[in-house]
Amino acid sequence: MSDNGQPIIELRDVWKRFGRLEVLRGLSLRLEPGHTTVVIGESGTGKSVLLKHLVGLLRPDGGEVYFHGRRIDTMSEIELVDVRRRFGFLFQGGALFDSLTVAENVAFPLVEHGRKPPAEIERIVEERLRMVGLDGLQARKPAQLSGGQKKRVALARAIALDPEVVLYDEPTTGLDPVRSDVINELILRLKQRLNVTGIVVTHDMTSAYKVADRIILLHEGRIVADGPPELFRTSTDPQVRRFVDGRADEKDLSALNE
Ligand SMILES: Nc1ncnc2c1ncn2[C@@H]1O[C@H](COP(=O)(O)OP(=O)(O)OP(=O)(O)O)[C@@H](O)[C@H]1O
Ligand SMILES: [Mg+2]
Repeated sequence: MSDNGQPIIELRDVWKRFGRLEVLRGLSLRLEPGHTTVVIGESGTGKSVLLKHLVGLLRPDGGEVYFHGRRIDTMSEIELVDVRRRFGFLFQGGALFDSLTVAENVAFPLVEHGRKPPAEIERIVEERLRMVGLDGLQARKPAQLSGGQKKRVALARAIALDPEVVLYDEPTTGLDPVRSDVINELILRLKQRLNVTGIVVTHDMTSAYKVADRIILLHEGRIVADGPPELFRTSTDPQVRRFVDGRADEKDLSALNE
């Protein structure tokens, strides 16, 4: 694993329910620093819920969550501030602030978390926008951007604080193949140049194969397949093939026949 063999993130037997809905059912996972792990699985299977546990936005009903060997699921909100600033979170849907400009959106975590002077913030914002290929759009509002541009602004914001870990929740959803590939390249670059540990939730298998060191298939709150991309390309397991090839089975189609 890392130099000292410690995972950067670890989940031990994590359970989470909302009312009567059991979402995570005993999830255990160890993530290696500097690697990109892709999480795939059907809609509603708990992928976003899993990501939120990694930064204490949700707390498990059972089990434990560790970051660098420190237990975080029992931390106070104040203690979590330090943990969260080491993460970048690209939320599903982008979630830019509509009333703020591009520059203000990217600057937001810097203003919120740091005590950097305005000139320094401006420099970082410009640098991050350059990294995602959007320098020059500082003054625009989100409504004046395309879907792909919004995702890249959200990514620039997610990496504003030099995170060790970036959580990408469906970074390519809604983008054409070329724009998707720009995001894939950015994910790869952040890993290669900044040694970012990445966790990518996606339905896009092209993206998964391109960025993953490891792929995890979630089904009904459990990990049902876990391994390098090669495993998923060649697996004959019907559960894996059903998701990876996007083929509905009898049970999936039964709803249509009613
Ligand atoms: N805060 C919450 N309160 C109640 N139910 C929730 C909450 N967050 C998620 N859920 C439910 O938990 C289940 C898993 O949600 P989650 O958002 O993790 O799905 P997902 O795997 O990310 O799906 P998608 O691929 O559609 O984004 C869903 O049934 C969802 O409705
Ligand atoms: Mg989701």
